[in-house]
Amino acid sequence: MSDEVMLQPADVVAAPVIAALQRACFPDDPWGEEAVATLVGQPGSFAVLALKGEEPVGFVMARVAAEDAEIIAIGVSAEARGRGIGRRLVAASLDGSRERGATALFLEVAEDNDAARALYKSCGFFPVGRRPGYYKRPDGRVAALVLRYSFVSV
Ligand SMILES: CC(C)(COP(=O)(O)OP(=O)(O)OC[C@H]1O[C@@H](n2cnc3c(N)ncnc32)[C@H](O)[C@@H]1OP(=O)(O)O)[C@@H](O)C(=O)NCCC(=O)NCCS
Repeated sequence: MSDEVMLQPADVVAAPVIAALQRACFPDDPWGEEAVATLVGQPGSFAVLALKGEEPVGFVMARVAAEDAEIIAIGVSAEARGRGIGRRLVAASLDGSRERGATALFLEVAEDNDAARALYKSCGFFPVGRRPGYYKRPDGRVAALVLRYSFVSV
């Protein structure tokens, strides 16, 4: 199998694949295929899959409403992490959001998610809010940070 990882747009047909990746990346908050299909099928939504050969190794789901875009979920399978795939998926989200007319891209990240926070920081996102106790953890709750990437300089 080729080691090259390709990104490709995904639609509702890919819902089972995206849902399987989502469950592997977020075992504490698994989504079913129907939830993924509903989200990806909404106007303004888009998804991108990362494929190593034919093997799905990463995904991102995002949506655009008027001028604001949002990353709903992004993940890379554990064995494929640390090779730039997450960064490419963020870049694809930025491109897809800009193409659809967004002026900013938002996301939420758990305050204890060091890898994701480092990724977003290095991609140019800045914190704009904090939601205490937003995510459940086996030993309690953790805050969500709201991050924003702006396509326009202010
Ligand atoms: C967050 C996630 C998508 C990153 O994907 P990835 O393919 O491993 O990321 P990349 O290889 O593109 O790394 C890009 C940057 O992120 C940061 N990063 C990635 N993994 C990191 C880690 N374990 N520790 C610290 N920083 C890390 C680094 O800044 C890295 O840049 P560098 O390689 O130049 O140092 C992946 O860890 C993941 O799927 N985690 C589980 C699901 C999740 O938490 N999703 C995000 C929810 S908001």
